[in-house]
Amino acid sequence: MNAAELKRRAERYGQEHLFRFFDSLPAGGRESLLRQIAALDFDLVDALVAKFVRRKGDPEPAGGIAEADILRLPRTGEEMRREREARAAGEEALRAGRVAAFLVAGGQGTRLGLDRPKGEFEIGPVTKRSLFRLHAEKIAAIRRRYRCALPWAIMTSEATDARTRQYFEENGFLGLPEDSVRFCVQESIPAVDFQGRIVMDAPDHIHMSPNGHGGSLKALYASGVLDWFCSLGADTIYYFQVDNVLLRIADPAFIGYHLLGGAEMSLKVLAKNDPYEKVGVYALKGGRPAVIEYSDLPAELAEARNPDGSLKYWAGSIAIHVLDAGFVRRLNEGVFALPYHKAEKAVPFVDETGRTVKPREKNALKFETFVFDALPLARRVACVETRREEDFSPVKNATGVDSVETARRDMIELYSRWLEAAGAKVPRDASGRAINPVEISPLTSLEGENLESWRGREVGPGTVI
Ligand code: UTP
Repeated sequence: MNAAELKRRAERYGQEHLFRFFDSLPAGGRESLLRQIAALDFDLVDALVAKFVRRKGDPEPAGGIAEADILRLPRTGEEMRREREARAAGEEALRAGRVAAFLVAGGQGTRLGLDRPKGEFEIGPVTKRSLFRLHAEKIAAIRRRYRCALPWAIMTSEATDARTRQYFEENGFLGLPEDSVRFCVQESIPAVDFQGRIVMDAPDHIHMSPNGHGGSLKALYASGVLDWFCSLGADTIYYFQVDNVLLRIADPAFIGYHLLGGAEMSLKVLAKNDPYEKVGVYALKGGRPAVIEYSDLPAELAEARNPDGSLKYWAGSIAIHVLDAGFVRRLNEGVFALPYHKAEKAVPFVDETGRTVKPREKNALKFETFVFDALPLARRVACVETRREEDFSPVKNATGVDSVETARRDMIELYSRWLEAAGAKVPRDASGRAINPVEISPLTSLEGENLESWRGREVGPGTVI
């Protein structure tokens, strides 16, 4: 399509301002802008503007939400037996090479305020081991333990792709064979201002952002990663996010519950700290399994309690999933579109004079799809409760809740508990907190094993194991 045709198309959708600076651009700028415009899905943007700008979004109906079945932490002898059975089934799948690891790392990490992919962040409380390295070492340890291939795919976005690949190359693929790691790139989508106009951040450039972690389901398929997994015999995909420092990658019990339950997509949940903790809640919505974003859960439901005082909707999703490869394929080979959600953000924009402005105030809507919106599409779902202190501590913010500080503290606490269980002495303060920072490589211990040599020894400051 030539410039005139693209201009007419933009005009038809009320987006003619995309050509505002066109005539004064150098040839290179014109060309790259036209390429961007030609690739835009105007129908999609128009539908999102109609839904979220003109109609201000459909209010979430408070009705139709009910409690769902959840496998609680085992308490009775029978539940413990079932957990052992699940673990054995998961270990068998791992040993048979049926499991693949899938990390989504396309987000921009705006709350942390980094100018590089979040996975590079040096989170290790002593060694400053990066998030990517932490995950890579867990993967290496699982491969060794189960003698399996455990192929690893990492989803990036336009925003993180080049830098992420460079990081892996510069760091020798973090000790993993290069051909055991693949990257795929999710799609991006423009932001719109509060009038519904696509935001440009330079005279020759449309501001694009990754289309949410839901984009991973399409990226897996479109990139050929799903075929790669299947060619290696891996039909069970362990999905995780880059910022969770405690996460147990390829947790065999969780995989086992998924497989024994005949599930197509599964999720881990934990008991929310309070009614308003910022995690989505697992429940039935219109009779289907679903995760309801915290911002969409009406207060009367967030605060609803059982007769014993516990929260009725207690199960917070922590973005750890197992996906059946056939399910991902079925979604992509049928008509499949996850719903978009909107988020108000401060987005750089170009002013009338062609200058880029970085606003402090929110000025635009970004659109994202969420991976958990695939849950209602799955024929069966297994939802499994986990322990927060063993599986969930995300790095979202620089300080405060879910921050660098809380993640390091939770790592130190986990490693200290493992050492105590092995018979080591961990100095603790009056509140019971471990005093000395300690860090254990996943290559040494994945879940507290291999620490026998610490029996009777005291854990000093800055211990690295
Ligand atoms: P978050 O929603 O916490 O976003 O992502 P973020 O980009 O890390 O941080 P903020 O909101 O900008 O501060 C949770 C996980 O989903 C991935 C992130 O990389 C992270 O692993 N993600 C998010 C994607 O892969 N793509 C996206 O479009 C959004």
